[in-house]
Amino acid sequence: MQNTDRRALLGKLALAATTALASRANAFADPPRCALTSEDIEGPYFLPGAPTRTLLIEPGMQGSVLELEGVLRDSACHVVANARVELWQCDALGRYDTRGTRLRTRIQTDSRGRWAVRTIVPGRYLNGDTYRPAHIHLKLHGPRGVLTTQMYFEGDPYNASDPWYRRERAVSLIENGREFRARFDAVVRR
Ligand SMILES: [Fe+2]
Repeated sequence: MQNTDRRALLGKLALAATTALASRANAFADPPRCALTSEDIEGPYFLPGAPTRTLLIEPGMQGSVLELEGVLRDSACHVVANARVELWQCDALGRYDTRGTRLRTRIQTDSRGRWAVRTIVPGRYLNGDTYRPAHIHLKLHGPRGVLTTQMYFEGDPYNASDPWYRRERAVSLIENGREFRARFDAVVRR
């Protein structure tokens, strides 16, 4: 083999090896850290103009306390500060307040993109002849518009049969003494 042919062959082998390594690296790559959060239906119960508050629990309200927090980022992984977060949910018995503002809020992320509310674990309600899994509705106001979505809870027996449930939007419900806590981080378009 002439030197020029040998160099060409080595070049091809090196290229093939590099390509193989690259494809293997892709196969085992972590999912993108700041993949956009998927949208979900708004549903029939959104009402604009909810009050600004972080405590949603009212005297006499049934259910388990839920400390819910999240961080809002954009698709470049930068936190989104001072962004409006609208949240609405049903009560522990699966009922929405369709006339007032119970279990509804409109807050803002802080300078580090964080938001938090103290609420209750939502119940389930019938949609047709089957229950929707427990979920909380959100409208996240990013720099490119509003992302309407829903968050779910891992392990809910009605997740699998729900047409809107997405596993990537299900969070762990962590027992914390007599209360629960959960964290829903989201990513909006930059
Ligand atoms: Fe709902």
